[in-house]
Amino acid sequence: MIKELHLKNWKSFGDTILYIEPVTVLMGLNASGKSNAIDALLFLQRIVKKDFSDIFINEEGKDIIRGGYEEATKYKEKNFTIGVLFGKENGDLYYEITCVINITNRNCTILNEKITEITNENTIILLERGFDLKSDFIKYGKPIDLSDKQAFHIVPIPKHSSILNHLISYKGLSEYDAGGKKAIVLAEALETIFILDVQPNSARDYSKITDRLQGNGSNVAGFIAGLPKKKQKGVLVKILEYAKQLPEKEFTKIFVKKVGILKSDVMLYCEESFFEEKRIADARTLSEGTLRFIIILTAILTRPANSLLVIEEIDNGIHPSRASLLLEILLKESTEKNIDILVTTHNEAFLNVLTPHLLAFVMYVHRDKAGNSIITPVDEIEELPRLLAQGNLGDVVANKKLHHFLNGE
Ligand SMILES: Nc1ncnc2c1ncn2[C@@H]1O[C@H](COP(=O)(O)OP(=O)(O)OP(=O)(O)O)[C@@H](O)[C@H]1O
Ligand SMILES: [Mg+2]
Repeated sequence: MIKELHLKNWKSFGDTILYIEPVTVLMGLNASGKSNAIDALLFLQRIVKKDFSDIFINEEGKDIIRGGYEEATKYKEKNFTIGVLFGKENGDLYYEITCVINITNRNCTILNEKITEITNENTIILLERGFDLKSDFIKYGKPIDLSDKQAFHIVPIPKHSSILNHLISYKGLSEYDAGGKKAIVLAEALETIFILDVQPNSARDYSKITDRLQGNGSNVAGFIAGLPKKKQKGVLVKILEYAKQLPEKEFTKIFVKKVGILKSDVMLYCEESFFEEKRIADARTLSEGTLRFIIILTAILTRPANSLLVIEEIDNGIHPSRASLLLEILLKESTEKNIDILVTTHNEAFLNVLTPHLLAFVMYVHRDKAGNSIITPVDEIEELPRLLAQGNLGDVVANKKLHHFLNGE
């Protein structure tokens, strides 16, 4: 699983580490840098799947990573570095990439890239990028020791592909591929990162049957309909179980139904018990909070084991009194499904339900006096007990007490 995200001169960050726990709450005031950190995870996920030429923008020239090329590197800096520490059996893997952006030509070039294995005994470079005028190459050690120049095995790689992308698509290098075989789990983990930024209103229409949930949740109905029958039933039962606790009166059924002659379009329905007779409401009339909740649950219940799910502004549009329900779901389902869940929030209600033993999961993002975003694990703040004596975590954040303390004010 991914344990740490290292950011250097990425967007608003100076040099900082985000520690990733089974459940991580990334909290901070507006514009502190929470989404900028999530954008780094999106960058990593995209460089596994894609060629570098369309990492930041799509074919129509629209930004896929917010701010596009212009905002990737911290203001006035030339390069950015993103690193990720991945925990596996018998040691960790550390991947690091440094890039330079050319805003005029709208391109991103790799300056350095390597994967290192860190065990109790030693630290070894498994794979490293080499540079050439025509085509870059990856240096594979024989079997994994790159200090011996004679032992390199060199594999050409396009200038615009990351080592991660190469690992996913390249199959085997006989005696030289020990490093590659070890490192592939890291590429796979980054490839399965899923970032959910729910737009409930985009999910009100019919959607096509699919096996891929959109990042905004717009096709949740089509995605649920596309699940294998047994899985679909399990997911809908679980969603109902949790969603029942949401409104004043219970939902009695949540289901999807195929419509049209070709039965390729799907609508989401909820049976409500607000009146004496039960009433069926379709996604067009469901409350925003209900839709948001259903989309979040669908993602949590369907992500593959050992993957990282990111949920932006988890508690947006959900009543503050349901904050503890959300937290309970995150903790229970992340353990049951063996997934890591990283959420962002600036809602004090959500923070106020965090019991002391959960503080180890909270990362506080703030801007230092120079404007750099910094991430601090809350349980490492020595003054925390004193601050918490003045109120719950949410209140301490809302009153900017934590912010003032960290900036020595
Ligand atoms: N390349 C960059 N250099 C410096 N600052 C940047 C860069 N890119 C973005 N920022 C700054 O980052 C801030 C936005 O950060 P971000 O979107 O991560 O905030 P957030 O914590 O998610 O806030 P919210 O809670 O409102 O969603 C803005 O002030 C923006 O100017
Ligand atoms: Mg944000």
